[in-house]
Amino acid sequence: MAEIAPRLILLLLLLVFSLLSLSSAEIKTLQITSDSRSMILFEKFGFTHSGHIGINVSAVSVASRLSNVEPALLGFFLLSDDSLLQVLLEIQQKPSFCVLESAFARDLFTFRELSPPPHSSKNFSAPVVSPNEYSLFFTNCNPESFVTMTVRTEMYNLEYNTVKDYLPAGQTQLPTLYSLYSVANFVFLGYWIFTCYKNKKSVHRIHFLMAGLLLMKALNLLCAAEDKHYVKVTGTPHGWDVLFYLFQFIRVVLLFTVIVLVGTGWSFLKPFLQEKEKKVLMIVIPLQVLANVASIVIGETGPFIKDWVTWNQVFLLVDIVCCCAIIFPIVWSIRSLRETSKTDGKAARNLAKLTLFRQFYVVVIGYLYFTRIVVFALKTIAAYKYQWVSNAAEETASLAFYMVMFYMFRPVEKNEYFVLDEEEEEAAEMALRDEEFEL
Ligand SMILES: *[C@@H]1O[C@H](CO)[C@@H](O)[C@H](O)[C@H]1NC(C)=O
Ligand SMILES: *[C@@H]1O[C@H](CO)[C@@H](O)[C@H](O)[C@H]1NC(C)=O
Repeated sequence: MAEIAPRLILLLLLLVFSLLSLSSAEIKTLQITSDSRSMILFEKFGFTHSGHIGINVSAVSVASRLSNVEPALLGFFLLSDDSLLQVLLEIQQKPSFCVLESAFARDLFTFRELSPPPHSSKNFSAPVVSPNEYSLFFTNCNPESFVTMTVRTEMYNLEYNTVKDYLPAGQTQLPTLYSLYSVANFVFLGYWIFTCYKNKKSVHRIHFLMAGLLLMKALNLLCAAEDKHYVKVTGTPHGWDVLFYLFQFIRVVLLFTVIVLVGTGWSFLKPFLQEKEKKVLMIVIPLQVLANVASIVIGETGPFIKDWVTWNQVFLLVDIVCCCAIIFPIVWSIRSLRETSKTDGKAARNLAKLTLFRQFYVVVIGYLYFTRIVVFALKTIAAYKYQWVSNAAEETASLAFYMVMFYMFRPVEKNEYFVLDEEEEEAAEMALRDEEFEL
């Protein structure tokens, strides 16, 4: 029993892995050194009818504490998500079971087929006949043994039977998708600049920051489109990936900053930030730096590195903390508006502000909820061929959020915001008195 437990945990971990969507599947070269893991997940890829997989291993050596190593118990195989559960069951039933024996795993090759030492290599290449999403695993069923090797993998689908497409079946639409959203964001930016120009007198510093945010978003999408296109065509991610990460970093930091600043009413309600509001920014910005480092590690490597899960956890945790932190300034603003509304005589004006901030609160919560939970759910339940739908949903949600936020806090002449007459003033006073909205 003691022997099964670690392997079971390992396989459960693999199950969790397979639920996470792995970003890219390009040509990858990696070095495995004295690795005792019995399973290594390399890559997950959605194949079409014309899928293809190539694996070249070289400089292979296996060391063991026990006397003999059985090469037939080391090898590569493909596993679809449906079969993963079957394999888990098999392992539970037979403790000494090697996944390479499973009827559900599609074995590619074992180490019996390696060329003899000193080269110890194998160039493997095969079509994938039944279209599905598969994970590429390496397994070592020899106990107490350590594998060293250099592995180069490539997976692609053929478009029109000739052109190699290195993006998985559900992501091959991404370059087009990102280009479209980039154009949409540039158009929006143009419109925003036009609006600011038309209402020059009521433009505040925050409106420039918002323009900067839109610009970064549009550039980020442009680079994402170019990067994905490059991967699609060449299988390597070194198109514009550095620019992509740079703009992504600036965009995310700006987004959180803008939400915090708008939430505090900075520059259009008051010129300075309070101490606690500054603290929120001082927490959120460094955390976002960390989150971006994590997202780069996750994006540029894959589950085969040992710390991959840790980076994923760091990213999730930091993201959750930031999402919670940016809510506080909005809540504080609502509280302080409610306090002042009781003392000063401008009821209608205060009610209008209060309503505005409450709507903003709901919009921010809605946006965070949608992009963190709904998008994740879509990613998990969508068939592998429709993975791009979750990206489309995320981009649509972002664009909608930006539009609503920008509309709510657009530069307008002050008297246009709060038209005052006796009746409205009285009605507002009544409304503020009935105030029972608690956060
Ligand atoms: C695999 O291909 C490389 C060249 O890419 C070659 O050097 C090596 O000998 C080949 N190995 C086998 C086993 O054919
Ligand atoms: C493996 O090596 C062969 C040359 O022997 C090459 O044609 C093929 O592209 C290589 N595959 C990978 C995944 O590097």
